[in-house]
Amino acid sequence: MAANKKRVAVLISGRGSNMTAILDAAKSPDYPAEIVLVLANKPDAKGLETAANLGIATQVVDHKDYKGNREAFDAQIHAHLEAHNIELVVLAGFMRILTPGFVGKWTDKMLNIHPSLLPSFKGLDTHERAIETGCRLAGCTVHFVRADMDSGPILCQAAVPVLDDDSPDSLAARILKAEHRIYPHAVALVAGDKVTVEGMRVRIDEGSDTKLCANSEAQLIF
Ligand code: GRF
Repeated sequence: MAANKKRVAVLISGRGSNMTAILDAAKSPDYPAEIVLVLANKPDAKGLETAANLGIATQVVDHKDYKGNREAFDAQIHAHLEAHNIELVVLAGFMRILTPGFVGKWTDKMLNIHPSLLPSFKGLDTHERAIETGCRLAGCTVHFVRADMDSGPILCQAAVPVLDDDSPDSLAARILKAEHRIYPHAVALVAGDKVTVEGMRVRIDEGSDTKLCANSEAQLIF
């Protein structure tokens, strides 16, 4: 199996809890992906330390060194990805908008997780906006990355309730737990070549088209 594992880079900007969830899953011998690089746009991203402690190669491409030259910033990231023979890019709390040129190089080979049920609440402050809008359900989405932010074919989503006394923080914590469940699974589906993208629709070739896993905390829809 090891020889066939897809070579994955995880891009982060901060604490890297989704990265950690994926690294944990990747410890299983059956997991179809190997995390070979963790790259951050901030030298103090906490997740860098976590990855380094696990012996994973880390790299910093500090956006502040590029003074608004997004093409040059993205080109540097791309160079690192190529140097590590990366086959799949996983954005996990990576807080920079990538240029269309870069995104185009990774079509259907780059995933993102967003803390809302897309297409609702693209962008920032998703938990606050879900509460303010009176949503009864909130959640998270794993999608393939396209040039428009938080758009792109949806691979899987998890829905959690919005409770009457929720604050943005309490809702974020509930959603984050669901993120940690779906993102490793989503990465495994793509790395295991179980996924076909047809326009905006994603077909999962895993026995059945759709799997619904429920527990008391979340509805997870693959
Ligand atoms: C997550 O909520 C993710 O959905 C969003 O940024 C946050 C990153 O958290 N894109 P972490 O760094 O993975 O802990």
